[in-house]
Amino acid sequence: MTAEKVTFAAYLVAALLFILSLAGLSRHETSRRGVLLGMAGMGVAVLATLVLQHPSGLGLVLLVVAVLVGAAVGLWRARVVEMTGMPELIALLHSFVGLAAVLVGWNGYLEDPGLTGSLLGIHHGEVVVGVFIGAVTFTGSIVAFLKLSARIPSAPLMLPGKNALNLGALVVFVALTVWFVVSPSLWLLAVVTVLALALGWHLVASIGGGDMPVVVSMLNSYSGWAAAASGFLLDNNLLIVTGALVGSSGAYLSYIMCQAMNRSFISVIAGGFGIEAPSGEATDYGEHRETSAAEVAELLRDASSVVITPGYGMAVAQAQYPVADLTAKLRERGVDVRFGIHPVAGRLPGHMNVLLAEAKVPYDIVLEMDEVNDDFDATDVVLVIGANDTVNPAAAEDPASPIAGMPVLEVWHAKNVVVFKRSMASGYAGVQNPLFFRDNSAMLFGDAKDRVEDILRAL
Ligand code: TAP
Repeated sequence: MTAEKVTFAAYLVAALLFILSLAGLSRHETSRRGVLLGMAGMGVAVLATLVLQHPSGLGLVLLVVAVLVGAAVGLWRARVVEMTGMPELIALLHSFVGLAAVLVGWNGYLEDPGLTGSLLGIHHGEVVVGVFIGAVTFTGSIVAFLKLSARIPSAPLMLPGKNALNLGALVVFVALTVWFVVSPSLWLLAVVTVLALALGWHLVASIGGGDMPVVVSMLNSYSGWAAAASGFLLDNNLLIVTGALVGSSGAYLSYIMCQAMNRSFISVIAGGFGIEAPSGEATDYGEHRETSAAEVAELLRDASSVVITPGYGMAVAQAQYPVADLTAKLRERGVDVRFGIHPVAGRLPGHMNVLLAEAKVPYDIVLEMDEVNDDFDATDVVLVIGANDTVNPAAAEDPASPIAGMPVLEVWHAKNVVVFKRSMASGYAGVQNPLFFRDNSAMLFGDAKDRVEDILRAL
């Protein structure tokens, strides 16, 4: 059997392992196995590619050095990253896929492919499409990284005529593609690259903080399509299959996330198409009321039902352990304690579930938003621990709000709401929260972990 046939057989095995990996990742119980299968698939893919390409001399040395440096940086980042920093790391990794696709595209143009006639035209079409998708993914992911790591504000950029700008860029891209296929030139490819870099930047900059979870999965999808485009250029079937798997699963995840959050899929992928700029006028919601740990302990002593709605602040404060202790203490006293989990609470899907599982909170009292939303009327106390956007009544009541229509935990229907946070600052979406000013709400300021421990002591 030739090396080529062995490689193709290995590629088939790797592709199957990737499919099994995706299947494994779709459920909590099998997700570890899914990751292991993905790693095995990638190991097979890298080895098979080495056999096929059989690099030697300087090429081999460069390859080994690149793999060693990449593996060392990857291992180090994966070990030190905090769970709250995962989305920004993922966004950064997507940007590398985009950059790689741009480089592969440019290389595809600069290197003589040895083709003529219509085959050369198809090759140039692949070059320009690969460079375009890669460059959009590259800058889009960089903006997502900057927003998620709070290096730039998460509020949407509202350039005048932003929808026309995005649409215009797409029309120009189609025209340039035709031009490039007919008469390829270096400067034309440079123009397409700059246009795509600007479009990627603008698309993601125009999307508000509340929609960032969808943006991250959308960029995941783009990075898959960028890899598939590189696969066509490099004539590598495995890259095409893998890219298509990532691209389509990312697109489907974006779609179901949009449905769950009542967002328009088209609006989000088109850079917030149809979303108007907020008026900019701050609403006066009146005065907020402050409370103390001792008062909250008193409230909990008299309560028979308590719902805890955790958010990003619980992750920052690492408050899940005292929260689990408080839960156990209240349950010992016969209080009905449950958790209400919003699908995008925190910074990654399932973030709160993972933290609560870590702190050994029993699964059966951790409920999804839809399972708990009708029960707030009959709840004595809601403890909002470091959550903000996910409990914001403006989403349900103010059609002009940037998060209007997003389903939220309707905690304000409870008899008493205690909000744990450090200040009156807004949440990730940058929207003020009228919950803090309601008559049945009280603010418990300070680090969430310290405040929960204070309550435990007072109890
Ligand atoms: P956020 O709206 O992000 O609000 C978190 C709150 O926690 C902040 O208002 C902050 O107020 C408080 N906080 C921070 N550190 C704290 C600490 N040490 N102790 C006490 N409080 C602290 O949280 P959320 O309700 O979980 O909403 C998540 C947001 O992130 C949504 O807008 C969502 O769209 C977005 N997002 C989600 C994801 C995924 S997939 N889950 C990914 C990207 C973005 P102070 O500063 O006043 O303390």
